[in-house]
Amino acid sequence: MRHATPRQYTGDLVNMDKGLISRDIFTAEDIYQEELERIFPRSWLFVGHESQIPENGDYILGRMAEESVIVNRDRNGKLHVFLNNCRHRGMRVCRYDKGNSRKFMCPFHAWVFSDLGELIGVPKMESGYHNELDKSEWGLIEARVYSYRGFIFACWEEETPAFEDYLGDLRFYFDDYCELPDGTFGEWEAFGGIFKWRVPCNWKFGAENFGGDYYHNPSHASVDQVILSPAGTKGRHTYDTVTKQRELWKLCVMTKEGHNARGELFKDDYEYMPTYQEMAVVEDYFRDAFKKRQEKLGEKARWYGHGGTIFPNVSYSNGVQSMGSWHPCGVHETEIWRIFMAPKEAPDEVKDVLRHYVIRYQGPSGLTEQDDMENWGSAHEGARGTIALRFDYHYGMGMGYEQRAWPAEWLGGDVYATEDVSEQNQRAYYARWARMMDVPPGADRKPVLVDAAE
Ligand code: FES
Ligand SMILES: [Fe+2]
Repeated sequence: MRHATPRQYTGDLVNMDKGLISRDIFTAEDIYQEELERIFPRSWLFVGHESQIPENGDYILGRMAEESVIVNRDRNGKLHVFLNNCRHRGMRVCRYDKGNSRKFMCPFHAWVFSDLGELIGVPKMESGYHNELDKSEWGLIEARVYSYRGFIFACWEEETPAFEDYLGDLRFYFDDYCELPDGTFGEWEAFGGIFKWRVPCNWKFGAENFGGDYYHNPSHASVDQVILSPAGTKGRHTYDTVTKQRELWKLCVMTKEGHNARGELFKDDYEYMPTYQEMAVVEDYFRDAFKKRQEKLGEKARWYGHGGTIFPNVSYSNGVQSMGSWHPCGVHETEIWRIFMAPKEAPDEVKDVLRHYVIRYQGPSGLTEQDDMENWGSAHEGARGTIALRFDYHYGMGMGYEQRAWPAEWLGGDVYATEDVSEQNQRAYYARWARMMDVPPGADRKPVLVDAAE
């Protein structure tokens, strides 16, 4: 139903006792404006991968919520994230998607900023400003930045905990994603550019889907009929052949920080299943990597991650090895950015296989994601109707059956281990969202940022 202002998010718009969520949180303009204030600046947001800026002086443009940022490696090799916004009148000081430069000159009136963010040049300094402008006060606005295993995150607010604390219990699962196929933390390399495309839906649809929706396979029925997997067989995943032959738990993982992960835990060890028989180089690479991973990780190699969402809008997918963001673009539109990665030292044949796989699978050209876009666009429309808005969405699957089950004590977070699925991840995600939304700007935010779930 529609909710009056001032709004109470926890328990009212997001009622996790009943498993109900108001459609307003996806379509109300004023709620969206509050999200821009209360969610995004307080969160660590993904802005790029180090392999996109390997050399000193390299930069790419990233995005944090609605705003453009410059992600660069300065002349000394240090990473920075700057608001791409001139301090004079707000013009974008960098208009290229990527490049290498020691300075950024604003195209409007030609203020010049260095790769360290300092204001180093101002036309008419003498004749116009009478040498009274203190350049040291007018450098680019800089965010906190942290590179976690090569994945660069940035945050505007000082009160937000350090990135690794923010990541919290998701660390095990995100580490699994960061590992190369052989289980080591070697180098990934982003290939091609950044996929960017827009979908007519609220940004949270994608974030919740990647974080917890295990059971929307009916909408991918047509994709499952074609040959999509890298193995050249029916099915979408590299591991389809394995999962059909082994006993496993499906795991939904929620963390108190509001992050989610999905994956499978095999009940016992499993063997490598030949996957790329027609490509000897590729087959050898993955068989060898599989063996090394088993040796290195031992029991932990039984975990097979599918992907997850780092609160609020960063999602990663294992297998296709993609990483991206659901950027808000007004309440009714999302601009999706996604990069794809391959192991840097892998043979070209392996990189080619992975590249073709992701193009078939994800992104605007990917068959799977085209289904998703239909779902989210239509579901968003369904949250806008005058009559429809009177009725909440149902988020009650598995409610009351949440368990702190630990099929393996080395797993992090609260794990729902089942032969089937639950919406506990989605509930945890929105519970975190609601708690953060209930804290107005200027309030003491520490409790809500550190411990967001009971
Ligand atoms: S807006 Fe950048 S110099 Fe005027
Ligand atoms: Fe999907």
